[in-house]
Amino acid sequence: MIVLGAGASSSPAEKKSVLKTRAGGQPTQRALPARIQVSRFKNMPMVVICQTAIYYIQIRKIMLKDKVLSKLIQQEIERQQKTINLIPSENYVSKEILEILGSPLTNKYSEGYPGKRYYAGNKYYDQIETLAQQRMKKFFKLGSSWHVNVQPYSGSPANMEIYFALMDPGDMMMGMSLTVGGHLSHGHKVNFSGKVYKSVQYGVDSQTGLIDYDVIEKMAFEHHPRVIVSGHSAYPREIDFKCIGNIARKVGAFHVADISHIAGLVATGLHQSPFEHADIVMTTTHKTLRGPRGAVIFCKEEYKERIDRAVFPGMQGGPHNNVIAAIAEMAFEDLTAGFKKYQKQILKNSSSLAGALKKNGFKLLTDGTDNHLMLIDLKTVDLDGQTAQDLLEKAGITVNRNAILGDSSPFNPTGIRLGTPAITTRGMKEKEMKKIAEWFQRILIVKEDPEKIRKEVEEACKNFPLNY
Ligand SMILES: Cc1ncc(COP(=O)(O)O)c(C=O)c1O
Repeated sequence: MIVLGAGASSSPAEKKSVLKTRAGGQPTQRALPARIQVSRFKNMPMVVICQTAIYYIQIRKIMLKDKVLSKLIQQEIERQQKTINLIPSENYVSKEILEILGSPLTNKYSEGYPGKRYYAGNKYYDQIETLAQQRMKKFFKLGSSWHVNVQPYSGSPANMEIYFALMDPGDMMMGMSLTVGGHLSHGHKVNFSGKVYKSVQYGVDSQTGLIDYDVIEKMAFEHHPRVIVSGHSAYPREIDFKCIGNIARKVGAFHVADISHIAGLVATGLHQSPFEHADIVMTTTHKTLRGPRGAVIFCKEEYKERIDRAVFPGMQGGPHNNVIAAIAEMAFEDLTAGFKKYQKQILKNSSSLAGALKKNGFKLLTDGTDNHLMLIDLKTVDLDGQTAQDLLEKAGITVNRNAILGDSSPFNPTGIRLGTPAITTRGMKEKEMKKIAEWFQRILIVKEDPEKIRKEVEEACKNFPLNY
């Protein structure tokens, strides 16, 4: 059970001090965490004391019988509140989505599809799944020539299902190499995609860091892949889906566009859409779409049967009904005018952060960004990805180390990847981007104590509380 109330760390005295009663008569405990000492408030103006107290009271409190787990979840909620998240593949869901994910919808088996289930009791799940399908198609403005499957558990299983639908084991596929921005599930040798299928990987131009579409075409003619994958995890520039679609057509390959990272930009017209140029489009739902952890596969109507059968019974069992309902809610939220404004602000923040980082002495791959993410080349500041990631984490700034052009190992890379979807959800704007770039300079170049900067980061986060 999740309630607003006493945290696992609260002392009995604290609990008593703020005991309240709800309208329904049930007592609700609201407490300040133990670490807020009264001395901390000395010499503070009353308004600041009130703001600080409200901030801590508002942090969601977890009270399970299992104190060990309660404490861990509580600590994670507070970590999210108090740190700046620059991981471009993460975001914060709405309270409504959280509620749906934790609802009794998780209790039901619904193997099959609406109207064709293997279990009884699926009347409402049929309607929920149909609603999610309809809204996802509306969101991407798709007509009757497209079908959508909303059951994939996440992005990697969805890609597996697509390949399973389109290829036989041992067929050739082509995707972008992980070390320059592709995803593991696009044919990397350690992943199922590189083990079950023969895989050839395209890179980027060694001077510009940009995709060279002529090279992709040359490789496609040389290797004759069954599937060409476009879309990436760490590429800061616009993708030319039209060009890759043309190449695929020329060599008789399927074009699979994985828009997991840029789906929000695509749906709002802020990035070229792949729908005219691809046979299959896949997106995860937990990145720029701000939904639950899941994925959806769009396919041309002619591939409906193959895709649906690959998802179930080909790869998966019972769908996660709570996630499907949360996808319906996500589409409801994303179909509002505010969502386009949010996507535009992601781009403004990204461009502003990139500009400020460059001004503060950092080198960016491709010298900037067109989308929600950017990559810093740390070689020019004499650091590696792991060291930078650790220093930033100590200061309360979360990033991920990332392989960049010239790196041979994804475990020991010389880059870090940053993105703005999550901080934009918190309400941060251009002014905050300048501040973040300044912290980067102080932590990674000036080598100030990250603990000192952590206090500044925590203070800044208080102005942008998460709504749970
Ligand atoms: C482009 C792309 N495709 C697929 C995935 C895999 O998604 P998941 O982690 O949900 O399996 C990711 C994950 O970040 C991704 O960036």
